Amino acid sequence: MKAKLITLDGIDGAGKTTQLEVIRQWFAAHGLPVLFTREPGGTALGETLRGLLLDAQGRVSLKTETLLMFAARQQHLDEVILPALAAGTNVVCDRFTDASYAYQGGGRGLGAEAVAVLEQWVQGGLRPDLTLVLDVPLATALARLNAGRDKDRFEREDAAFFTRVRDTYLQRAAAEPQRCVVVDSSRSKETVKAQIEAVLAERFQAA
Ligand code: TYD
Repeated sequence: MKAKLITLDGIDGAGKTTQLEVIRQWFAAHGLPVLFTREPGGTALGETLRGLLLDAQGRVSLKTETLLMFAARQQHLDEVILPALAAGTNVVCDRFTDASYAYQGGGRGLGAEAVAVLEQWVQGGLRPDLTLVLDVPLATALARLNAGRDKDRFEREDAAFFTRVRDTYLQRAAAEPQRCVVVDSSRSKETVKAQIEAVLAERFQAA
């Protein structure tokens, strides 16, 4: 079976960390080769860029922010993701290009066109085989964010920003129903886990 690129995305506070663990356990239980990684990051250079991008004190203009996200992504693809896929290892990436559309394109107002140009340049035809978009009502996301300490540069943004981020994720998911599955993670942990397991089982059987 051809190795798959699976990405997990959604607004801050949607519960990515919990669901990553569900995915981790599913792969372990099924004995399938998999590599877990994240963006921005996943390489030495990428993790350095992540530190700069998330630094709450940092000043980064919008185009710079977008270019750095894609610079980290290019390195990640070249050094980690493409070699893993070529070796038959599935890759689960904690955030990917949908986050650039949602945060830079939607949240910050860059628009989709500039992101699409960079996506094409950096990725060529590569798109995730499956994207799980975790979704919660805005109030839930904001409550979780506000409960956390040491907010990063994105987590400090206001409700209007996160409304645009969330709307962009949902629009993208609706436009690409083959690739994207929206997971309502405001439901019970067991229900969300069951949905994710069912999606993975279906995708890995059908191939
Ligand atoms: P996140 O993945 O939420 O990490 P943690 O779970 O440790 O808080 O943080 C990464 C932040 O980077 C998140 O706020 C979204 C942002 N981001 C973008 O703005 N654009 C991108 O292309 C990517 C990959 C992430």
